[in-house]
Amino acid sequence: MNATLETLRKRLIAAQQDHVLMFWDSLGDTERRSLLADIASVHLGQLADLHRRSRRDSSSAPGSVQALPQVVKGEDSQADAAARAVGEQLLREGRSCAFTVAGGQGTRLGHDGPKGTFPATPLQGKPLFQIFAEKLLVLERRFGHPVPWYVMTSPGNHVDTTSFFQEQGYFGLQKDHVMFFQQGTMPAIDINGRLVLESDHALFRSPDGHGGSLRALSESGAVADMKERGVEDIYYFQVDNPLVEMCDPTFMGYHRQQGSEFSSKAVPKRAPEEQVGILVLKDGKPGVIEYSDLADDLRDAREDDGRLRFRAGNIAVHGISRRFVERLNQGGFALPIHIARKKIPAMHPDGTVGPVDGIKFEMFVFDALPLAEKVLLMEVPRASEFSPIKNRAGRDSPETSWRDQSSQFADWLESAGVTVPRDGDGCPMHRIEICPLFADSAADVRARRAELPATIEADTIIA
Ligand code: UD1
Repeated sequence: MNATLETLRKRLIAAQQDHVLMFWDSLGDTERRSLLADIASVHLGQLADLHRRSRRDSSSAPGSVQALPQVVKGEDSQADAAARAVGEQLLREGRSCAFTVAGGQGTRLGHDGPKGTFPATPLQGKPLFQIFAEKLLVLERRFGHPVPWYVMTSPGNHVDTTSFFQEQGYFGLQKDHVMFFQQGTMPAIDINGRLVLESDHALFRSPDGHGGSLRALSESGAVADMKERGVEDIYYFQVDNPLVEMCDPTFMGYHRQQGSEFSSKAVPKRAPEEQVGILVLKDGKPGVIEYSDLADDLRDAREDDGRLRFRAGNIAVHGISRRFVERLNQGGFALPIHIARKKIPAMHPDGTVGPVDGIKFEMFVFDALPLAEKVLLMEVPRASEFSPIKNRAGRDSPETSWRDQSSQFADWLESAGVTVPRDGDGCPMHRIEICPLFADSAADVRARRAELPATIEADTIIA
């Protein structure tokens, strides 16, 4: 260990990072070994570059921004039906899988536990993971083939997530078809570029962003598992959206028909200020501009008909071909690294722990868009596909999502002839919840018309 220590110490001194050994003399052998391994895995040169970048203005204004051509779901019913048939066949043959990124820390929601355990339905308060599991069960029933489900966690929530699934009996899914893996982490630095110690023998690390999923899919063996199962396409979605149309066959059918490697769904932005990234062509290449990086003139630009010019709001639902993930991981994985300034808990030289101003690093999945040979953008209706739970109150909160879920169920019921009283804003007067296992679409609801009430007169659960 001494030789390793001395080599490492020299490298650390050269990089002005030798403070990470400040507790060395008081550590036991196991702790020393673990600290050495932790430090050895850090790319000190890259960290110095990132720190230099954090001191410059990081807003990289693209030269030209144009709207990305898109397919609009519902505009051409014949083309949609043909794509749907392709997507359904993929499900029948087990060639599509579901992939949830659930490694985030969910700080804005303030929920104690992994976000997927948050009670998300309007009346029964079913956790997000249960909603997804039930939607997958419906697909299995409908297409006669289980849909493999990959769930990405992070070191901070992995055990809680897997224990939750175990306690809940995998919500009725077969355990063999649910795979968990952890995403990678990156060390953080303070504003002076120095590595931060979380304890006397460990660096502070944070999850490497949802972009890290594209590496973790490969490193964890998930991609190899997909290959073995015959899975060719991945339906990627975030853990925060209970309205996700699970493994949407129409979308995955277009993805497949057009030979796309990376497809994205978008909803028309509600207003210029809405906090969603937008899908665009940046200097001729597809990509996302985050809401925080969008210049005011682009944010506010309108077409002659009054619609926002850059309106393709990213709902973070993607179709990704397995081969594309394999290719990205061949010969070095390189997505750009983004910088986030956050408070970080740090161990000080006196052994106390307290927050310091720090810099965390993350990769974003949509930065893979320009690396794909072919991409597809599909605009979908917001009301039936997107109502995320991100904040405790206000926009994108449980309250707004319950309302949107109830509205979707109300639309389905009305299509089956049920009377649903609505308020002046068009929202259902009562909360409604339909269990996916009872019906998962307007057509399903119509097929069970005989079991439905004539009018919704109070909060109603249909299960
Ligand atoms: C994200 C998108 C935004 C999009 C919006 C739609 C980014 C930077 N922006 O914003 O373009 O319009 O969603 O809802 O992503 N996650 C991990 N590991 C991580 C970090 C995040 O798995 O290390 C997962 C989270 O669990 C969550 C998802 O990624 O499922 C989104 O992360 P979040 O940071 O909440 O993104 P938003 O700011 O909401």
